Amino acid sequence: MSSSSIFRAPKGIPDYYPPDSAAFTAVRDALTGAARLAGFGHIELPIFEDTALFARGVGESTDVVSKEMYTFDDRGDRSVTLRPEGTAGVMRAVIEHGLDRGALPVKLSYAGPFFRYERPQAGRYRQLQQVGVEAIGVDDPALDAEVIAVADAGFRELGLSGFRLEVTSLGDAECRPRYRQALQEFLFALPLDEETKRRAEINPLRVLDDKRADVRALTADAPLMRDHLCEGCKAHFDQVLGHLEAMGVPFEINPRMVRGLDYYTKTTFEFVHDGLGAQSGIGGGGRYDGLMAQLGGQELSGIGFGIGVDRTMLAMGAEGIAVAGARARCEVFGVPLGDAATREMVVLGRNLRAAGIRVDMAYGGRGLKGAMKAADKSGARFALVLGERDLEQGVVGIKDLSTGEQTPVDLGAAVTEVRDRLG
Ligand code: HAM
Repeated sequence: MSSSSIFRAPKGIPDYYPPDSAAFTAVRDALTGAARLAGFGHIELPIFEDTALFARGVGESTDVVSKEMYTFDDRGDRSVTLRPEGTAGVMRAVIEHGLDRGALPVKLSYAGPFFRYERPQAGRYRQLQQVGVEAIGVDDPALDAEVIAVADAGFRELGLSGFRLEVTSLGDAECRPRYRQALQEFLFALPLDEETKRRAEINPLRVLDDKRADVRALTADAPLMRDHLCEGCKAHFDQVLGHLEAMGVPFEINPRMVRGLDYYTKTTFEFVHDGLGAQSGIGGGGRYDGLMAQLGGQELSGIGFGIGVDRTMLAMGAEGIAVAGARARCEVFGVPLGDAATREMVVLGRNLRAAGIRVDMAYGGRGLKGAMKAADKSGARFALVLGERDLEQGVVGIKDLSTGEQTPVDLGAAVTEVRDRLG
């Protein structure tokens, strides 16, 4: 950033610019590609929606809704909110357009920015990028396993290996209330501070996720959902784990996992990367069987994930992985010397692009030295050097930028020659 710039991006909101933006799109495309291989179709959602959708979908008591939403009244005095996550919006769209009246499950994937007013720090932004999937309408443990395996495959496709998959089951409408009560009874008997007691009242599970050592010690023997699952949920979870094992997707059971969104039921999971410090969650998701009905749709189940693209990039950095897609800006760089050569090079550039070759050139009437420097910087494999004498002879010099070797070819044959040399 130039120190003289008057404007800055809002706090906690990243820009993506070359060369890192190439890594950004490569990561996003690899994750989306993994979803496409499993039959997920793309959905493009509004960036903002009715505030009530998120309040009802994500849950009033969550930090996301109560503290982190970008909410404002539009000029028609409607309260709207920049989307803090994607699941509620997908459900709204599925209900609104009746997508759930067709073949089930409805499988949709999305990618884009989400907004949470959190305290910015490494790996935590106020505009964050996710790739997500949602599979709606079938409650089959094989589908849970598939969704998890898609995320796992996406990470591995990118070369990542230093991550863990944590899974748990949060039960359903039958067993969770009973567990909640047992947990509350346990927590209310502890010497907890007022704030934590209040939390135990609203969302007791979150107390289990408290990072303070004294609270951790106090809750060490707290009852766990795992031991309170009803028969149906237990069998469901066992089958999910069985499928994961059969697919060779490594996992750990984390019975104390707490997600920041209220809609989760049964299978719930998180991908954690150990190279990232405090913000170690690179992706997470789970089943949300009551959400559709809660948003006014039919009683259909659903499961999905959201992967943080920003954190996935950081994780790759931590593992020293260069992104394969972060290729050089161009393959060929034009070096025209003089006005007549520039006119010819502009046309040659257009013809090369028409042949699918990435071309850039030196602009601004730069001399040979400056233009060659720009060619080297561009990462191109070949420079096309066109001087006045070349023009008179109807040739252009193709210079291999790694060997320095330069050979003249007929201007008319330049496109074919470059294409052959690039293979
Ligand atoms: P989430 O766990 O809130 O889930 O977010 C998913 C991922 O987004 C996180 O694991 C993290 O990598 C990334 N993320 C979240 N907040 C930030 C932030 N402030 N800065 C950078 N990255 C962040 C959901 O959003 C659910 N909608 C996922 C889901 C889909 N569950 C079912 N279907």
